[in-house]
Amino acid sequence: MSFFDGKLLIESASASGIEAVTKREIIKLGYNPSGAEYGRITYEGTFLDVVRSNVFLRTSNRIRIVISTFTATTFDELYDGIYSIPWQEIITKDGSVVVDAKSIKSTLFALSSIQSISKKAIVKKLCSFYSLDTLTESGSIYNIEVSLINDVCRVTLDTSGEGLHKRGYRTLVGHAPMRETMAAAIIELSVWNPDRVLIDPFCGSGTFPIEAALIALNIAPGLHRSFSFENWSNIPQLRDKVNEEAKDLETLDKEVRISGFDIDPSQIKLALKHAENAGVKDKIHLQVQDMRKLSSRFSHGVIITNPPYGERLLKEAELKELYKDFRKVYDSLDEWCAYVITSYKGFEKCFGKKADKTRKLYNSELECNLYQYLGKPPRKEE
Ligand SMILES: C[S@@+](CC[C@H](N)C(=O)[O-])C[C@H]1O[C@@H](n2cnc3c(N)ncnc32)[C@H](O)[C@@H]1O
Repeated sequence: MSFFDGKLLIESASASGIEAVTKREIIKLGYNPSGAEYGRITYEGTFLDVVRSNVFLRTSNRIRIVISTFTATTFDELYDGIYSIPWQEIITKDGSVVVDAKSIKSTLFALSSIQSISKKAIVKKLCSFYSLDTLTESGSIYNIEVSLINDVCRVTLDTSGEGLHKRGYRTLVGHAPMRETMAAAIIELSVWNPDRVLIDPFCGSGTFPIEAALIALNIAPGLHRSFSFENWSNIPQLRDKVNEEAKDLETLDKEVRISGFDIDPSQIKLALKHAENAGVKDKIHLQVQDMRKLSSRFSHGVIITNPPYGERLLKEAELKELYKDFRKVYDSLDEWCAYVITSYKGFEKCFGKKADKTRKLYNSELECNLYQYLGKPPRKEE
């Protein structure tokens, strides 16, 4: 039996601040995750579950398989721990080995040494098993991460390849796009559900409306992209089976009320293209419109948005004016909820209203706050 045919320890990596959302998603997918620390959530499964996690999880950044965990405070311990792993069951004879290193609060902290010693141990083990002097490394890539946290070394194999935020629909680059995984997490954190109205008045390249539509229609986020495990010849071939499962679960007839607006026609053009790529163009309404003109015939609904935040997009004075005007529009919308993510620290002051809840999140590397205005329950929304 090969390594990939047995029970595996699966690790999902999430952005800081959204681990709990990913954990809920993992439970919903049928697994029993243990802790969630340092952005890592682990659970047991088989290779089928690795494939399902890659295809179905909306808020996870990547899926890894945990190969080994041991204590290492010296380079000899690191070398021996890595050498003792049965690499021949994991990496093919022609496999190309790429090692990344990470160290947090550990005695061993020189990343280039951790990386080169780990790679040496893997290559030596494979050469010894296959009776080779050198590895050709002419085949598929296996990305190994050696991460030391508090002197505990965790060796993992990446199965995703490109980060899972890359769903495949965003083919053009917007002004300051939101990561798809973060957008999905914010939607999951909000009170919105697919029966409610959703508007993004600053939608840019369309990430919030598209992610909301994917959720509403139950379209799996990873359905149309590839993953690094698909290049490996030594794994059970399960991608078609999982795609079939995903297709069966789609609810494409669902009526949704999701809109996105942006003042910039070039952004709406991008958003339309992305919505088309994602297969939701006919489901969402995207239109060029200044936020100041926003109105709705619904007395209840949910705004989820990432307005300009100054660093790249607007001067501070303009930004303050924009946020002030946004408040006027919000007040005109009767009893709506609003979820506003911005890195601009003075948002509440300019908006003139303290949020009911605030949550610190990172959009890529940028520290942001999610300001949550909870409105009233959807009494009259129907
Ligand atoms: C931070 S970006 C939004 C990025 C978007 N979440 C995405 O994923 O692509 C802010 C957007 O607000 C738009 N914007 C700026 N002023 C606006 C206004 N007065 N009304 C509507 N949109 C505006 C910009 O054109 C920009 O696309």
